[in-house]
Amino acid sequence: MSPGGPERRARALRRALRHHSYLYYVRNQPEISDERFDEMFRELKALETSHAELVTPDSPTQRVGAEPLDAFETIEHTAPMLSLDSSADVEPLERFDERMRKALGDDIAYVVEPKLDGASIELVYESGRLSRAVTRGDGVRGEGVTENIRTIQSVPLRLRTADREAPPLLALRAEVIMRVGDFEALNARLLKSDRPPFANPRNAAAGSLRQLDPRITAARPLDIYVYDILAIDGRPPATQRATLEALREWGLPVNERCRPSADVGEILAFQAEIEEGRDDLEYEIDGIVIKLDDIAARDEVGETSHHPRWAFAFKFPPRKEVTRLLHIFPSVGRTGVVTPIAFMRPVELGGVTVSRANLHNREEVARKDIREGDRVRVQRAGDVIPQVLERIEEPGRERAEPWVMPAECPSCGALLEPRGPYTFCPNLFACPAQLAGRIQHLGSRHALDIEGLGEETANLLVRQGVIGRVPELFELEAAKLMELEGFAEKSATNLVTAIAEARTTELARFIYGLGIPEIGVTVARELASHFLSFEAFREAAAAGKEAPAGEAAAAGEEAPAGEGAPAGEALQEVDGIGPLMAEQISAFLARPEVSAVVDELRACVEPVPPPRAGDTLAGLRIVLTGGLESMSRSEAGKKLEALGAKVTSSVSRQTSYVVAGENPGRKLERAQTLGVEILDEAGLLKLLSDGPGALSPFEDVPAPDEAPEPGAAGDASEPDAP
Ligand code: IVH
Repeated sequence: MSPGGPERRARALRRALRHHSYLYYVRNQPEISDERFDEMFRELKALETSHAELVTPDSPTQRVGAEPLDAFETIEHTAPMLSLDSSADVEPLERFDERMRKALGDDIAYVVEPKLDGASIELVYESGRLSRAVTRGDGVRGEGVTENIRTIQSVPLRLRTADREAPPLLALRAEVIMRVGDFEALNARLLKSDRPPFANPRNAAAGSLRQLDPRITAARPLDIYVYDILAIDGRPPATQRATLEALREWGLPVNERCRPSADVGEILAFQAEIEEGRDDLEYEIDGIVIKLDDIAARDEVGETSHHPRWAFAFKFPPRKEVTRLLHIFPSVGRTGVVTPIAFMRPVELGGVTVSRANLHNREEVARKDIREGDRVRVQRAGDVIPQVLERIEEPGRERAEPWVMPAECPSCGALLEPRGPYTFCPNLFACPAQLAGRIQHLGSRHALDIEGLGEETANLLVRQGVIGRVPELFELEAAKLMELEGFAEKSATNLVTAIAEARTTELARFIYGLGIPEIGVTVARELASHFLSFEAFREAAAAGKEAPAGEAAAAGEEAPAGEGAPAGEALQEVDGIGPLMAEQISAFLARPEVSAVVDELRACVEPVPPPRAGDTLAGLRIVLTGGLESMSRSEAGKKLEALGAKVTSSVSRQTSYVVAGENPGRKLERAQTLGVEILDEAGLLKLLSDGPGALSPFEDVPAPDEAPEPGAAGDASEPDAP
């Protein structure tokens, strides 16, 4: 090949692949076969492998290239991402229209769009290239998920410029969605591998975006629609219609159901039409959005601190359906709460088949007078888990007797204890249902994070009598597992290895994994950083005059030491723990059967305390190269290590900083190639005195996991973040 040959070829291939991706993913009008596309892709990949210098960051081969992140960066939006004023009633919509007419006169035009039920995101293109993508977060700042967004095939890494120039800066607002069919397939996959499914496509989209490992996101079937310009360097389009047209010309996916509307009558007609076809849509929408078409008029009406005055979301009422309730079954949870569950004749609610609903407690069942065999109305608001709204009268039909909670636990036969409207099984560790629940909880993502130990496996282990007490989890042998249905050699050894690896874990995970009432992930973290050892926490919980609430006393427990103070008072020094919570935690840990299990678990697991407060550089990996003026290199190394940093000799992608002094060596070059941040001596001194925050451009922002994420997946439904 002539010099420049491979380069020219690579460029041609990239251009062609980009074009055909656009036709396939955005326009839905492919012009070449998948095989031809793959062929070109492989040719480009091969060229880039043999000529590494030909790789460009926006090459179609570079969608999934990034290494897993340690954490997401918090990034401020180019402009605030406001939310929308909304209602499911017509009246507020009419008032919105009246306000617009009053402010702008009668000659107004709207654009109406489907309100996509996904995860809101900002996309930023600089000189036509995708430079960052940020989740909505609290509207002002969110999490940088650029690498994950790059894996979505319909997101152009480069804007098309054939019909329209790319402005120097273009910040866009878009919605990441997961199609219903893809969502159901994903959930089936998650369930099969014993991981909790997502509650709905929105959570699935948000959860998939918040994966630290872009390869996981790449394996999730996400799509995106762009609907607004958040900021533009240059002249913005004059209307929403022109905006959508411009977005299309730039090769961005725009929802095809957007259309102009003149007044409330037309808006309602559009809504009726969309709602009618709602179940045939491949993705979920939860209403329509009405926007002023004229962008200049938008500035005239302005915005409140929360939402623009120029737009309104007209929401659909929740979906309802009628079906027959077949059976009410009391289900025993991990903490012993017995919940009545309704089993119903399966019914389609917005593309999702539902057959179960939570009836919450005895009083709820009695209040709604729901009996087995009744016809009931069920509602699914946003989640797949539906509610039973009410029963439907069927005159002349004979009804079953009112449902009553059984006196004995359906799982272990112990006498159930009513507490207020709730019912408990007191048999904490020996009740099979609670035992399985506790084992599952101990292995869950925020606890010991044991892969392969989900609900199904925990149930199986208990049902087959393999585990009779929680600590026996650590005695599991692969050979024993292989005797069970569903286990092969590989899955059995994998589980045993995962359990062995969990023997060393963070203190907070251990505390959380014990399933102590009231202790969620956040409180567990607070406790860990306050007490720094499990024993200190346990002592604090035990210290006090006496164990309260009679339980420990009734069980013949001796009054713990620490005359005078109420039980668990020392716990109240911890953020987020009040007297009631402290008491509950103390009482639980003081129970002899709990105490015994905790002792045994503690003998199996080594909880590692969190970094001390003084370890400002904990978790950082630093490489030093070249001579320093104010100290020797080994001195600098010692100072860094004293603050918790790890000083290493070779540069990798895991390196946090390379400190380059006088006459730095090859390490500097390597850092530049890998894109590792480089500090000079002044930077090093700053790091030593003020910590890494002083070097970051986002000093005062909260840690990523503190930024509220409306609409993001909740803890329980988000299966595989770390
Ligand atoms: S416009 C400032 N258009 O609904 C107005 N939003 O609370 C920006 N959404 O967070 C929003 N489809 O994530 C707009 N066609 C659409 C939309 C849409 C879905 C979401 C968006 C926003 C939420 C409203």
